[in-house]
Amino acid sequence: MRDFARSIVRWQRQRGRRGMPWQGVRDPYRVWLSEIMLQQTRVDAVTGYYLRFLARFPDVGALAQASQHEVLQLWSGLGYYARARNLHAAARELVAARAGRFPRSAEALAALPGVGRSTAAAIAVFAFGRRAAILDGNVKRVLARCFGVAGFPGETAVARQLWMLAERLVPARGVRAYTQGLMDLGATVCRRVRPLCGACPVAAHCVALREGRIAQLPAPRPRLALPLRKAHWLIALHAGRVLLERRPPSGLWGGLWAFPEAHGRDARALGRAVGCEIASLRRLPPLEHGFTHFRLRVQPLVCQVRRCTPRAEQGGRLWLDLADAAGSAVPAPVRTLLLRLAPGR
Ligand code: ADE
Repeated sequence: MRDFARSIVRWQRQRGRRGMPWQGVRDPYRVWLSEIMLQQTRVDAVTGYYLRFLARFPDVGALAQASQHEVLQLWSGLGYYARARNLHAAARELVAARAGRFPRSAEALAALPGVGRSTAAAIAVFAFGRRAAILDGNVKRVLARCFGVAGFPGETAVARQLWMLAERLVPARGVRAYTQGLMDLGATVCRRVRPLCGACPVAAHCVALREGRIAQLPAPRPRLALPLRKAHWLIALHAGRVLLERRPPSGLWGGLWAFPEAHGRDARALGRAVGCEIASLRRLPPLEHGFTHFRLRVQPLVCQVRRCTPRAEQGGRLWLDLADAAGSAVPAPVRTLLLRLAPGR
């Protein structure tokens, strides 16, 4: 056990990732922001978002004062927007209840909206040097392989076993390097496919490597066919502008701007429902977007609008210049379509 941590710490100091803008940072606001952005998102996708977000909201007070719209706009394209809404809610909570000061223990940090057990531990480690165990998806893979833990980590009994291991492995000293090392190892060496076992500092301990079970561990999620939802998106164009609709504040893409949507309704009826008389209609190739619990297949319908009534701008709808729309708070598939319609930007 002690050998495992020692090997990870030594490896991180010699071979771990360098140059990530949140590395070495102890300001809990910055650590928190980076850990939330890095949930289920790769380092190279996060870096630009992190720097832009900090430039606009340098501290928790600035974030608490912002509108949700502005926060979502800076998050737009990063995905998993509940993270941005929770971040904003947590900032307001911290300012209202604690004068903007972060709690220092992993347990108290885990009470903030959007901060789970592993993220709370990462913040407590990096910001405050506390001893706490992380267990994100990458670390589950490292531990399941190294210690030969069978079963799908999403099952309670398997997760409990992994958490017990994670807790017992945290060293008394060098907890920052150890935690960063575990993350680095999971992301760069102990990859899901084609791991680089020849470069692994704990290969000598690794049960999966010794027993030839690298491809079997961790066990995958038991296969469930994800349900398919279908929707039509009405891309209404009028005088160089496009009609967008604000989605309800919670739920899928909550608070973001998207195209008016219909489940199986015909385009002209949908057009009338949003106050537009449609002159011509063109179908774009369908696109699919995967969510955790279902797949969404979208049929985009590009409509030239002959006449529109004031109803078009009711119900949270807005005409935006086509050239600017992709820069507002829109989910990634909406942005893809907007860029396709307004090339050269
Ligand atoms: N993934 C989650 N937290 C991380 C961090 N601090 N550095 C790199 N990748 C991460």
